[in-house]
Amino acid sequence: MPPTLVDSIARMRIALVSPYSWTFPGGVTRHIDALAREFVAEGHHVRVLSPVDPDDRLTRLLHRRGPDPAPLPDYVVPLGRTASLPMNGAMSRLAMTPSSAVRLRSELRAGNFDVIHVHEPIAPVIGWDACTFDAGAPVVGTFHAYSSSWTPNTIARAIGARTVLELGALGGYSTIWLAGAVPDDGRVVSLEANAQHAEVARANVAQAGLASVVDVRVGPALETLPKLASDSAGPFDLVFLDADKRNNPEYLEWSLALSRPGTLIVADNVVRGGEVVDGETPDPDVAGIRRFTELLAANPRVTATAIQTVGSKGYDGFALALVEEA
Ligand SMILES: C[S@@+](CC[C@H](N)C(=O)[O-])C[C@H]1O[C@@H](n2cnc3c(N)ncnc32)[C@H](O)[C@@H]1O
Repeated sequence: MPPTLVDSIARMRIALVSPYSWTFPGGVTRHIDALAREFVAEGHHVRVLSPVDPDDRLTRLLHRRGPDPAPLPDYVVPLGRTASLPMNGAMSRLAMTPSSAVRLRSELRAGNFDVIHVHEPIAPVIGWDACTFDAGAPVVGTFHAYSSSWTPNTIARAIGARTVLELGALGGYSTIWLAGAVPDDGRVVSLEANAQHAEVARANVAQAGLASVVDVRVGPALETLPKLASDSAGPFDLVFLDADKRNNPEYLEWSLALSRPGTLIVADNVVRGGEVVDGETPDPDVAGIRRFTELLAANPRVTATAIQTVGSKGYDGFALALVEEA
């Protein structure tokens, strides 16, 4: 049988780029290895471009220990040795020599890859170089430090948010992080459909000493949002969408109605382990995220991007949409 389009898509040439020494594996390296094995098992052509420290005296000097005896998998292409640098709150073993960048570039050029997946794009020098070097393939970046709760908190503080609208409080965990980011006279309105969740959220927020800035409103967001708008509760500085994803397209419209130019809309779980690429998905939440993403792309009132993340729950990501002048 002749190869079909599906066959050719199913067998991709994938480069996984790691800035960290393969020889001394941490969480990121283990994750990349698991990913590589999974892709290989699915029939893809995989190359992991990663620094590797040889078993020699200099490595022992630089890292105070020798490499583990594990053999190098045949999909790993060594990019040279590493030295330690403080990075992401820990000591990281990073390739820093020009020869590593030269090897990386020649592998990327020769590999004829369909996609280049750069892990830790912010890491010197391999991450930076892989992102900026034009190898003629799409580059996907993954940051490996992420918590769905401190991300909105950091964003809220970074933009100096005083007023926040949250959809989906659950037990108030993210609500508390958001409330901790606004000033004492700030405000967080959180919309929660489930009355019991709302009660727990309120109790947790009170216990955190943040009750004065948080207003948890019970009811399906599509019912409480119009009330917020008619009460002229906006505009909010930050909107955090984390309720039922199937309604995200409608939530985008309401978020815009409750925004001003400069408002940031953050939507969680927009990658969903990669399920979001499935245009035939039977899952209404995935379909909701897909439609939401299309609406973001088409709406001239917003400039948006999606950041992919990896955490204990696997692959996911969040969308950031900046509201522009009308
Ligand atoms: C993913 S959880 C929220 C997690 C929370 N933001 C956090 O990070 O701690 C989703 C929440 O949205 C609520 N929810 C689901 N559908 C909703 C709707 N239509 N309107 C408002 N809240 C809804 C659920 O009851 C659940 O508590």
